[in-house]
Amino acid sequence: MTQDEMKKAAAIKALDFVQKDSIVGVGTGSTVNHFIDALATMKHDIEGAVSSSEESSKRLRAHGIEVFDLNNVDAIDVYVDGADEITKHMHMIKGGGAALTREKIVAAVAKTFVCICDETKQVSVLGNFPLPVEVIPMARSYVARELVKLGGDPSYRQGVVTDNGNVILDVYNLDIIDPITLERDINALVGVVTNGLFAARGANILVLGTPNGAKVIK
Ligand code: 5RP
Repeated sequence: MTQDEMKKAAAIKALDFVQKDSIVGVGTGSTVNHFIDALATMKHDIEGAVSSSEESSKRLRAHGIEVFDLNNVDAIDVYVDGADEITKHMHMIKGGGAALTREKIVAAVAKTFVCICDETKQVSVLGNFPLPVEVIPMARSYVARELVKLGGDPSYRQGVVTDNGNVILDVYNLDIIDPITLERDINALVGVVTNGLFAARGANILVLGTPNGAKVIK
């Protein structure tokens, strides 16, 4: 199986967690794109979706799935999203697609976070993938200097503006031994909107694409 086939296998398996007549939380990325395509096969069984990016909203609407404003939704049972890295503790790095802030908001509302990814995303320690940090544009240099003090090597993701009008710093070489504390410390820097550590609120279920098909880990 190719990596993309493993992503697709995980995405299709995640349909098992979608409840009838519910509003589904939908993340962003190539694995989620497979999930959206799979969700379209049961679009008459769901009420619609809340989306974490303009890209996913566009794909959902193209399939005829209604996209709700999160402000008009009281509760979300299940949020399905990918990850750039995930540990056995269900802590993740996300934001490779620059959608981390909206992803974190929808994840915060959802009762259950179902992470879908291929097995290459499983790691013992987070941080080989550079940690994305969404920053208010005027704070970019200040936040970069503060991230250096925290031990990282930030790099400005050129040419990328998030759906919220902000910029991304990708932080290399961080020693992420305590992801919950680091998530909190980076979020406390003035000018940071949020960072791509999903540790305080990690995944509840991992659907992992492997060469032998999708495996559910709880
Ligand atoms: C986007 C994300 C994605 O979930 C993450 O980058 C994984 O993407 P892919 O499914 O394309 O491997 O966090 O902001």
